[in-house]
Amino acid sequence: MGQLILDVDTGVDDALALMVAARHADWNLRAVTCVAGNTSLEGVVRNTLTVLDAVGATDVPVAAGAARPLLGEPRDAGHVHGSDGLADLGWPRSARAPEAIHAVELLRREILASPEPVTLVPLAPMTNIALLLRTYPEVAANIGRIVFMGGSASAGNASPVAEFNVWHDPEAAQIVISSGLPVTMYGLDVFYSAAVEAPDIELLLKADDAGCRLSGQLLSHLARVNGDDFRLKLPGSAGLGDAGAVCAVIDPEGLETSELRVEVSLSSSLTRGQTVVDQRTKASEATLPHGHLSRDSIDVALGVDGRRYAALFLDTIRSHDGK
Ligand code: BDR
Ligand code: CA
Repeated sequence: MGQLILDVDTGVDDALALMVAARHADWNLRAVTCVAGNTSLEGVVRNTLTVLDAVGATDVPVAAGAARPLLGEPRDAGHVHGSDGLADLGWPRSARAPEAIHAVELLRREILASPEPVTLVPLAPMTNIALLLRTYPEVAANIGRIVFMGGSASAGNASPVAEFNVWHDPEAAQIVISSGLPVTMYGLDVFYSAAVEAPDIELLLKADDAGCRLSGQLLSHLARVNGDDFRLKLPGSAGLGDAGAVCAVIDPEGLETSELRVEVSLSSSLTRGQTVVDQRTKASEATLPHGHLSRDSIDVALGVDGRRYAALFLDTIRSHDGK
């Protein structure tokens, strides 16, 4: 069985990612760590425990990590995720408390204890992961791959060129990207392409199972708030967002990647947080000293079979529904 750890800023689409990770039969969700991003750290922990309860994953350990980026102040995304970070649905909160240790300690414990290399899936600003790699570099030996949601080889969302997770903590993202570990960037180039269509959202809303109903409510919220985004092709549909990155771990054949050099812009200018992806194809240009990215290559997702991932998401979420 595959060994999985998620690092989240739950977050409506993080919630969908938690659900599919907790319910897929081939993967063991060993732990979930929380970081400030879409909402405050306290809100992220509360939302994460609430979502895990809704899908019956009450034994997955959860820990709180960084309340702010390595540099600068936290900046939430309430305009997308609602004032509570979970679409303001009023869903009953979990009574469970997080582990009494920092996220970095939980990550270390679970990575070192895993019988097989862990797939680490950061779906949020990568502050916790950067702190982990700097504090306990020995964990790298038992990390099989890092598949992160973040970055873009084209347009941004938090700024014209920067994607929210990388923009929120560019230094942390650069530490992860240049770690030398096998890394896959599941960025905005594919983020919007895996979407659940309106009739399937309706079916989820009517399900017996609480996890299905919560996912239906979250997807309805996303369809509403992202309805004006031209990247979503079908009216009434809702992008899986972060959940698509978990689908990419479960079913990597559905993702097209290219091995490319990537470096994060750490300047204080308009490009801060941009993932500069070297897509030059002429060898003599790509090696010119004046335009050479210094870092290692990572796998950058440039295409996705969105229908395949939507089907994977729905089958997995519905696997516990009586209907
Ligand atoms: C990313 O930012 C957050 O708002 C989402 O949860 C996702 O991880 C998209 O840019
Ligand atoms: Ca997220």
